[in-house]
Amino acid sequence: MILATTQLASASTLVRLSLHVLAASVWVGGQIVLAGLLPTLRSLGSDAPRKVAQAFGRLSWPAFWLLILTGFWNYVAVHGSTQSSSWNAAFGIKMIMVVAAGVGAFLHTRATTPKARGIFAGVGTLATLVAMVLGVLITG
Ligand code: HEM
Repeated sequence: MILATTQLASASTLVRLSLHVLAASVWVGGQIVLAGLLPTLRSLGSDAPRKVAQAFGRLSWPAFWLLILTGFWNYVAVHGSTQSSSWNAAFGIKMIMVVAAGVGAFLHTRATTPKARGIFAGVGTLATLVAMVLGVLITG
């Protein structure tokens, strides 16, 4: 006989994690999709990438703030301060990555040369991906 021990998430966990993952999918997935569409956007005109990036920003920044909001909700819900030292180490690195992701994305929008734009985009996207993986790690 096989005993099922895995339980379904409670309603508040369902809302909390669904919102966090939804925001992460817009913030992370949008950046990857935008990067993939760049060659096509460039072929549509010299200001097409800028216009599309600005439109994306109207979705991605609200998603980023939703990540921060639901992230604090997560921390409180899982009683972060009572978790193991390895959990807190992973969480601490995740917070550094979240800051780097936000700063990288912001500086990317303010950069005046293609080189600086590329560097900040790379730093921001890499930090975002590490933050996402660490999020999965600490969820266990
Ligand atoms: C770039 C920003 C962020 C991304 C991409 C991100 C991504 C993720 C992902 C994918 C998960 C796993 C969810 C699951 O497997 O169900 C997660 C979990 C978690 N995140 Fe974030 N996150 C971000 C920002 C934050 C912030 C700012 C905080 C805290 C202030 C935070 C705190 C947490 C916590 C505590 C968990 C574990 C939740 C649990 O075990 O129930 N996250 N995150």
